[in-house]
Amino acid sequence: MLILGIWDGHDAGAAIIENNEIKVAVNEERLTRRKLDIGFPVNSIKACLEYLKLKPSDIDVVACCGTQFSRVLARQFPFLDNEFYKFRRRLIPKPRFEKSRRFLKYWLAKHKTSFLKKFTQRQMKRKLEKLGFKDAKIYVAEHHAAHAASAIFTSGFDKCLCITLDGVGDGLSGTINIYENGEVKRIAEIKERDSIGLFFEQVTTILGFRELEDEGKIMAMADYSFPIPDEKNLLLSFFEVEGLSMKAKHGTIKRFLELEKIRWRTPMERFAYMAQKTLEKHALQLFKNAIEETGIKNVCWAGGVASNIKLNRVIRLHSGLKNWFVFPHMGDGGLAVGAALCAANELCGITPKKLDNGYFGIDFDESYIESCLKNYSDKIEYERIDSPGKTAAELILGNNYIFWFRGRMEYGPRALGNRSILAPACSCEVKEMLNLNVKRRTWFQPFCPSVLEEDAEKVFEDYDNAPDRFMTMAYMLKNELKKTYSPIANVDGSARPQMLGNENPEYRKLLETLKRETGVGIVLNTSFNLHGEPIVCSPRDAIETMFKTKTKHMVMENFLVRLKGEGR
Ligand SMILES: [Fe+2]
Repeated sequence: MLILGIWDGHDAGAAIIENNEIKVAVNEERLTRRKLDIGFPVNSIKACLEYLKLKPSDIDVVACCGTQFSRVLARQFPFLDNEFYKFRRRLIPKPRFEKSRRFLKYWLAKHKTSFLKKFTQRQMKRKLEKLGFKDAKIYVAEHHAAHAASAIFTSGFDKCLCITLDGVGDGLSGTINIYENGEVKRIAEIKERDSIGLFFEQVTTILGFRELEDEGKIMAMADYSFPIPDEKNLLLSFFEVEGLSMKAKHGTIKRFLELEKIRWRTPMERFAYMAQKTLEKHALQLFKNAIEETGIKNVCWAGGVASNIKLNRVIRLHSGLKNWFVFPHMGDGGLAVGAALCAANELCGITPKKLDNGYFGIDFDESYIESCLKNYSDKIEYERIDSPGKTAAELILGNNYIFWFRGRMEYGPRALGNRSILAPACSCEVKEMLNLNVKRRTWFQPFCPSVLEEDAEKVFEDYDNAPDRFMTMAYMLKNELKKTYSPIANVDGSARPQMLGNENPEYRKLLETLKRETGVGIVLNTSFNLHGEPIVCSPRDAIETMFKTKTKHMVMENFLVRLKGEGR
């Protein structure tokens, strides 16, 4: 059975799965070049069909999700999505009623009814008909059921506990589920009012960053505060966890106002620290309680909160779990896959399969790439190379950074060695240059490494022999390596590595060549984009980024591309 999953909210996208196998999955942002784009994912649907050479009539079921009032309203009046997008990304001047707009969003997010589910089906049918889907059966998944399905059916666990935590979706901000005997049973729900994800989003906004986008910066900034003891952390009392329930002291709007008052008298890094510790303490307690109550120690999780790698580390080390899995596209961007898996399980019953790679995007054949390169021959020169991994490693060993573009695009927020910028893991000088001149990022955002899985235990003190392929988890560098590898870690020595197995042979070759020279297969790996832009998708996006950043070298498929004239 072929199922097309679609998500039309924040970070919209589409995916096609067959049974429990993800065949292709793309997010709209990569195609429209609007980061975390929102709205009906026309481009992603077309790209998925085209990639698999399918027609709309080949699709058996279309699975979508989201029946909360705000989503239904935006489907009816798509300009609302665009307005919200511009507001959220601060592409318009600060509106006079900024706070009221935000409060309206909180209010709208609460509502969902069964009437809205039927209405959602009608809305989707109409939009799909325009794309040629005549008689597609439409399945509507509930927001958190889709998050849960994304984690469960890619975890490989026969039986597991699955926890979802996010800002808000279909009136909820979290769920606790047991997966057993082919069935997902929800044993607890956390209401929108008690959302710890929304709390973190509010902290992000109040600190002057973009909600739903910059939460990771708050996590990184927290490391720059001196430690604040629990009794002085004014945010800890904002939540209470008892058994499987999480309760917030204030409603969403009151909480925002209270947070503003505390921020007024607190320096920003300390405010970030208090928020991060509040999230860690309460979410950890919830995981602990759930593991204790159910006795299940295989735990998987998803939802926007799961993108907080420092929290994930605390859960991994202190919740009492035995095996863990975080769905790589944990936020709403992963809901297209989640909705499709949810439908597949309900309609034909599937079993969890362990995800072994994240390369579900589209790719470009060599002749197309060469024709693109030819188009820019006034500014670049290129040559065919026999061993892209080896050539790239030699450039990196010469203290250069390079652009690396090969194969299918990654699904999810992390570049995993197909659309990456790579640099020496030990060079502070190259790291500074990358941050200031190439990526143009906020100074306190750390870079991350890719490391051969067999070298992970040499580098990280808390490696637990469960290689993280998808950069979903924080690990601590060994004490003696904190200085050497400071370019790929945060100020406290924590890092978010990709631990590479055999899923990407040419990338492995690159790391193995580095290892032969330096003793460790490790490289700085950051996503191939400029800050605030989506990761590059097409050869053209990549070549133009080369011009914008004056980057000297790029390995693109089996070509070495060089910038003519001055470059970095
Ligand atoms: Fe969500």
